[in-house]
Amino acid sequence: MKVKILITGSNGLLGQNLLELFLKDPENYKVVGFSRGENRSGRTDFEYHAIDLTNQQLLEEKIKQIQPNFIINTAAMTNVDACENDKEGCYDLNVHVVEYLAAVCSEINAHLIHISTDFIYDGVKGNYTEEDIPNPLSYYGETKLLSEKRLQDSNINYTILRTILVYGLVKDMSRNNIVLWVKESLENKKEITIVDDQYRAPTYVEDLALACKVSIDKKATGIFNISSNQLLSIYEIAQEIADAFGLDKNLIKPISTSTLNQTASRPAKTGFDLTKTNKELEFYPNSFKEDLQRFKQKII
Ligand SMILES: NC(=O)c1ccc[n+]([C@@H]2O[C@H](COP(=O)([O-])OP(=O)(O)OC[C@H]3O[C@@H](n4cnc5c(N)ncnc54)[C@H](OP(=O)(O)O)[C@@H]3O)[C@@H](O)[C@H]2O)c1
Repeated sequence: MKVKILITGSNGLLGQNLLELFLKDPENYKVVGFSRGENRSGRTDFEYHAIDLTNQQLLEEKIKQIQPNFIINTAAMTNVDACENDKEGCYDLNVHVVEYLAAVCSEINAHLIHISTDFIYDGVKGNYTEEDIPNPLSYYGETKLLSEKRLQDSNINYTILRTILVYGLVKDMSRNNIVLWVKESLENKKEITIVDDQYRAPTYVEDLALACKVSIDKKATGIFNISSNQLLSIYEIAQEIADAFGLDKNLIKPISTSTLNQTASRPAKTGFDLTKTNKELEFYPNSFKEDLQRFKQKII
């Protein structure tokens, strides 16, 4: 029997990548997508519903009609500064929607795959294991941590995939990401300033999508870290992007976080320990350099 998968936020970066991945195997998966407005994925070979996920009644009604075996929740308010300025909107999408999904999963016995973030940490230790104690510095991080707690307190089967600085390219994207932004700026010979005192392990969106599929295929439950396997400063990340695409590194100027005056605080050093992911999901992420080559092959 086919596994029925509902993807929330199917117009988004991860959402569209999940569509591509599961629609490759129509023998084994039936795919349904929920997102705001028109279907912008360019794929028409799946069932799509335009729905505002914060509409609890409609959300529950639709999910009960569809009866998915798995729900992958990719929708979130992810702009960290916008979350600080619109706390209500942020809480609604990042926490309430997760509560609604958990409640309906409990009723229909569906498994929820939820995406979380390195921003649940304060960035002091770095290379976090799944067991390290969170301490978010921003409202975005707080709401994502609360969403995790809601699932831990529920009685449903859930998987939380924590990830870092996701990049990739899909159709009609509603927001940019580091690799595309650096690449486009350098292609246009624009000088850019990049912080050299924040450290991340960026995640290629195809790997995050694959980690969702592996979690489903293995029916894995609990929390797993998903990112590339190497911690770099954001300045070094920009330099790697310049190298990969043969662009001028001299246009990248290092600055420190304190000069930016951003609304939300960011953790200085994140990055993940991937031991549990390697062992239990049998999932082995690559270095950022290697992932950039895969991404380059895909877009040229
Ligand atoms: N991107 C990162 O660097 C990063 C890092 C760590 C963790 N994460 C987590 O990874 C997950 C996926 O991120 P992503 O980059 O794929 O996000 P994304 O590209 O912003 O995709 C989210 C999608 O959800 C849709 N959506 C938002 N609010 C909705 C609502 N009320 N009703 C229906 N649909 C709604 C958005 O619609 P529109 O297209 O119309 O806006 C968008 O298509 C999120 O949980 C995020 O917290 C991301």
